[in-house]
Order: sequence, then C-alpha cells, then structure tokens
Amino acid sequence: MDFNLKQYLMEKQELVNRYLKLILEQFNQKHKLIMAMDHSLMAGGKRLRPILSMAAAQACGKDFLIALPACCAIEMIHTYSLIHDDLPAMDNDDLRRGLSTCHKKFSEATAILAGDALLTHAFNIISQPEQVFKIYPDTQTRIKLISRISWAAGIKGMVEGQMLDMQSYQSEQRDNLTHLKKIHALKTGKMITVSVEAGAISVDADTETIEKLIIYAGKIGLAFQVADDILNIEGDPKIMGKAAGSDALNDKMTFPAIIGLAESKKYAKKLIDDAIETISQFDEKAVPLRAIANYIINRDH
Ligand code: IPE
Ligand code: IPE
Ligand code: MG
Ligand code: MG
Repeated sequence: MDFNLKQYLMEKQELVNRYLKLILEQFNQKHKLIMAMDHSLMAGGKRLRPILSMAAAQACGKDFLIALPACCAIEMIHTYSLIHDDLPAMDNDDLRRGLSTCHKKFSEATAILAGDALLTHAFNIISQPEQVFKIYPDTQTRIKLISRISWAAGIKGMVEGQMLDMQSYQSEQRDNLTHLKKIHALKTGKMITVSVEAGAISVDADTETIEKLIIYAGKIGLAFQVADDILNIEGDPKIMGKAAGSDALNDKMTFPAIIGLAESKKYAKKLIDDAIETISQFDEKAVPLRAIANYIINRDH
C-alpha cells in the first residue's frame, strides 16, 4: 500500500486542532484562563497521541471519527502535563511548542490553573461529547474510556512517573537502567499506551486485539521518551520549539546519561522493531500504526 505519512499526520493534526478549538470556543475567549489554555493547547503540538488513537481505531477496521472525543481529552491532559512540567518548581523551562511557556506568558498561578482546567475538562468532554461531537461512543464505552485514561494519567501512571523523574537526581538508583525504564514507561509510556487503547476501546475492539495493541504501544511509548532524551542532546531547539541540553543541566536520569548516545539509539530502534513485530498479524489497515512507530525514533521534534 502506498502510504504518505506526512500527509496522514497533517490531515489528522488539522482534524484534532479543529475539534480542540471548538471545545475552547464553548467558553469566553476573553477570559484569562481560557486564553492561557488556548495559548498552550493550540501552540502546535505534534498531536501524536490523538493520531495514535485514530490509527489504532483504523487498525481495528472501524470509523476512527468516533475516537475523536477521547483524542481531544488525551491531548488536553497531555498539554496540562506539559504546562505543569515546565513550571519553575518542575523543569523550569521558558520555551514550549515554539512559544513562551504558559507561566512565562501569563503567570505561575494562571499556568497552574490552566493545567488544572485542561485536565478536568478533558473528562467532561468524554462524559458529555454531544456538545461538540457528531458521533461518539455509547455511555458504557465512555465510562471505560474515563476509567482507563484517568488511570494512565494518575497515581500509578504519568503523575507517578513525573514524581520519580523529579526525585531522580537524588535517587540511589541513579545508574539503575531498570529504574529509568520504569520512570520513562510511567511518565511518557502510560499516556501513549492509553492513547492507542482508547482508540481501540472507542470502536469497541475485542480484548485480544486491544491486548496486542497495548504491547505495541508500551514499546513505542518507551522508545518515544528515549528519542526525547536523544533530541535533548542532539536536537535543534529552533525545530523542537523547546530547549535542548536541559536534561544534563538539571542532572536528569536519561538513557544517554546511563548507556550513552549510540546505545540509546540502538535500544530505541530495537523497541520500535519489536513493536512492529507485535502487530505483524494485523492487515494493511495497520500501515499507519507501523509508519508512526518508525516516525517516533526518526523525528526531529
Ligand atoms: C513532549 O511530548 C513531552 C514528552 C512526553 C516527551 P511531545 O513531543 O509529544 O510534545 P508535543 O505534544 O508535540 O508538543
Ligand atoms: C515530560 O518529560 C513528560 C511529561 C510532561 C509527562 P520531559 O520533561 O522529559 O519532556 P520535555 O523535554 O520537557 O518535553
Ligand atoms: Mg520533565
Ligand atoms: Mg520537561
């Protein structure tokens, strides 16, 4: 099958952007809180997580448009995590998605609240999709989505990963690769995994298919953060729209810091090859999922 990844990514980004904008347009655009949410949400992220949801729904052979509420919710949660991640109390970054970070542009208090609002409203969107979306999953499926997404984002998911990341500079496990894999799998892997899962849940895929997709997603999720660590060393901040070199400056536990750049690249490639192998039984409808897996380690931002 002739597949144009660049075009696929662009079309799906536009679709997600349109709906995210519609969600914000339900509120007063002149309110500072909404302006701060808009600043970070519409700044031009890659929308990788929603794209993965749609690609997973498609791989299950169904209309991916029904996954859009979950797609938007996940991107809102991801954006909240970035706003908080950039705060002075956390990574203290000035640049995100090519713009000033939310707290630099507005204030720390506003950035904290914009993050809170994005997180909270994400679940409102899944539970009441009819205000914005034409098609959406049934009530039972929506409860399942809320359950899986809140689990991935929370105490045993992304937030735990962020907690371990924050503690890593003083951790006794500084050189422990197993511990680092745990941090990465939690802080980045969980939300990527649930993105794929949510796409499949939205189209009511069977358990066996979902299980395979979760294994695929866990591997690309970990590879994604390894690639992020590599980009933090080799990437161009102008292209990435965020700072480079900050991990070393913050004394973060990263793959390159522990096993070196060359080994990190090999490891990321192996994860992606394994991920693609996991879905080898899927037919040509999984072509986008395979292409996205490769893109995750070949991207420049
Ligand atoms: C950045 O995520 C934060 C990580 C989890 C590594 P992305 O690289 O997906 O950021 P955006 O959404 O494109 O800005
Ligand atoms: C961000 O990880 C992970 C989350 C926001 C959950 P990093 O701190 O490593 O990512 P960047 O480099 O700031 O995007
Ligand atoms: Mg961080
Ligand atoms: Mg950061």
